[in-house]
Amino acid sequence: MRNLSFLNYIKGEEDDFTEILSGLENEEQKKINSKFFYDEKGSKLFDQITKSSDYYPTKKELEILETEYEQINNYLPANAVVIEFGSGSNKKISKLLKIIEKPEEYISIDISRDFLIKNAKDLAINFPDIKITAVCADFSDTNNLSKVVKNKKSKVGFFPGSTIGNFCPEEAKDLLKKFSKILGCNNYLVIGVDLKKDEKILERAYNDSEGITAKFNKNILSGINKICGKIFDVNDFDHKAFFNKNKSRIEMHLVSKKDQTVKILNKKIKLRQGESIHTENSYKYSVNSFKSLAESSGFKIKKVMTDQKAFFGIFVLKVKSS
Ligand code: TRP
Repeated sequence: MRNLSFLNYIKGEEDDFTEILSGLENEEQKKINSKFFYDEKGSKLFDQITKSSDYYPTKKELEILETEYEQINNYLPANAVVIEFGSGSNKKISKLLKIIEKPEEYISIDISRDFLIKNAKDLAINFPDIKITAVCADFSDTNNLSKVVKNKKSKVGFFPGSTIGNFCPEEAKDLLKKFSKILGCNNYLVIGVDLKKDEKILERAYNDSEGITAKFNKNILSGINKICGKIFDVNDFDHKAFFNKNKSRIEMHLVSKKDQTVKILNKKIKLRQGESIHTENSYKYSVNSFKSLAESSGFKIKKVMTDQKAFFGIFVLKVKSS
């Protein structure tokens, strides 16, 4: 495929190792960074979650991209370079690439290498006139990503799936500031945000009846085993997800079914029965609370669109000129 190229900025696994260990040694609450969800199996399982009837965000976001086609087109420049921060499946980006007039290039950024390459190849076939660049990197890697997009004229960042909700508000602000820096003044960011709603609907989305989310959550331990040696038995943990009202977030945990000690190198980590490892947060915003977050992170609000039930929002933002 002549329109496809590949760049790699992923470092070795030593850094991962230190990060995993320090999360598990945290005395207040054991943690594993949610980026470890997305190995190849995890990415496939997540794809299945998005198709389950209980998980509404993907369907609602796609609905908005379809119904607000013209609105979005009105706000975004023609001939833009489209940069996706954390590329999942090709569905949403395919829609956006059709909405924008004559996009010049699509830069796809993801840490899950094989998944990234497969999706980029498929896109390169479906969009033969668009230059496709697959970049294996952490989407918050400002230094390398700034280099990749340097000299590109008109830029549109794309950050769907309410991934912004997986960061606590302070981190979300930092991340948005990084995106504004990578994109540069007067360029755009199209961002999908899951909105506050009835708790039952929220909790069901993270406890789907087919049990795919449970599998996805537990799969993070298989990923850790691959990096650190076989330390966890996935069957010793239960999936737990609930809405934390005070913090307006869904919390995902893995609960130890028994007292156990796991060993990483020569460090021993004790888990009591019922003790959990915190694997993910998914913050839920109101339209206004997200607007103020974006405004305090270097963006102007150009347009907000929701689905009919206002379950999900797509925000078109523009980087303020400094
Ligand atoms: N960005 C997704 C969300 O917050 C990620 C996600 C969906 C997720 N379901 C999950 C993460 C289950 C961990 C476990 O909605």
